[in-house]
Amino acid sequence: MTNEKNEREQTKREKARLPLHGQSSAAVFAELFARKSADADWHHGRTFNLVYPTGRSDLDELLIEANLAYVFENALSPLKFPSLGSMQRDVVEMTSALVHAPEHGGAGFSSGGTESIFLSVLVSRERAREEKGITKGNIVFPESAHPAFAKAAFYTGLEIRPTAIDSSFAADVDSMRDAIDENTVLCVGSAYGNPHGIIDPIEELSALALSRAIPFHSDACIGSFVLPFMERLGFEVPPFDFRLDGVTQMSCDVHKYGYSTKGASVVVYRDAAWLAHQTFDYDVWPSGRYRTASMAGARAASPIAAAWAAMHYLGEDGYLELMSSLLATTEKIRNGIASIDGLHVLGNPIGPLLTFTSVNDDIFAIGDVMDDRRWNLNRTARPHGLHMMISPLHANFADEFLQDLSDAVRHHGPSRGIGAGYNDR
Ligand SMILES: Cc1ncc(COP(=O)(O)O)c(C=O)c1O
Repeated sequence: MTNEKNEREQTKREKARLPLHGQSSAAVFAELFARKSADADWHHGRTFNLVYPTGRSDLDELLIEANLAYVFENALSPLKFPSLGSMQRDVVEMTSALVHAPEHGGAGFSSGGTESIFLSVLVSRERAREEKGITKGNIVFPESAHPAFAKAAFYTGLEIRPTAIDSSFAADVDSMRDAIDENTVLCVGSAYGNPHGIIDPIEELSALALSRAIPFHSDACIGSFVLPFMERLGFEVPPFDFRLDGVTQMSCDVHKYGYSTKGASVVVYRDAAWLAHQTFDYDVWPSGRYRTASMAGARAASPIAAAWAAMHYLGEDGYLELMSSLLATTEKIRNGIASIDGLHVLGNPIGPLLTFTSVNDDIFAIGDVMDDRRWNLNRTARPHGLHMMISPLHANFADEFLQDLSDAVRHHGPSRGIGAGYNDR
């Protein structure tokens, strides 16, 4: 290493060191909020994913209080903190009822969609090994399925078989049929698929899986707290849950359209006995038996309290009220987009998600102008588009958004080349 590089490394390490003396809380918070000031401004409707704001200060206050009440507890031990065990049970039971899980079904709480999907994939691998002797399994999912399925396959050593989507951006059933073989341990469909906000033909896909005696995961991380309420409001909703015989497991996120703060999801199974496959039970440890039913050991308690509080505070009528306002806002935004020269929504999404593109302009260049106006619109890769997960709060900002979008279409330069995708590195 050269001297200069050595010195640079040294300075980097010095900087990264724990401060020699503790700082005042005023100094800590001054720095914290200075850093935070560069973050996306979701409070003013500037984000269309990551946060799902309702704009209801009463609900926000409730969520903050519920989080605060459990900020120090540890959900690793519901024996020591029985309130957490009972709230967790309530959340999984209320969620299971929303998606019509059968009486003999079972469900577990997890930290988010990715963990629910991981657990479902793990359970499927274990069932396939035990019931069919499959040791080199694969999972078959439409390419629009969330990357959490590929990630879970990576963790569990399964092969992935992504299949085609059709011109309406929904899973192509024939492509899934062709990909299935005797080593398929799980088939997947999404309600909704994240990239285009389209619901896959869950009825046909799950029937196909059932006909081959393969478990089927309906990923309702987004839809679980949207579609049941759309149905109650009289919208035509395609079947997506346990009312379909072929659906064996589902992921349902409370921390998306259930409006809880982050860290709350439920994985639901048609048969409670399968839950045993996601439980890790170990007693070689000198400290004795160690048993957990999800990925984490020590576990944040506040997401359980927040999910429980949000669901009880809103109740069915609260969710219905939020849903009807959300759908009205979505329609306004969707019509507004369609009225702007060259823009159109991809496919025919029926809920609060959509992706739009342009027949005249480079949509990423339009996205750049929107970025400059501090709107955060994710880019989709295939086809190029701008992605929106609309939240109730957007009711207050829809006009401003559409005005800026219309300006952006009329006045933009070449694209700065900001690519599509998520990246936490
Ligand atoms: C359809 C779908 N499934 C799964 C996930 C993963 O959820 P999480 O980000 O909570 O892990 C997402 C996230 O947006 C999603 O949209």
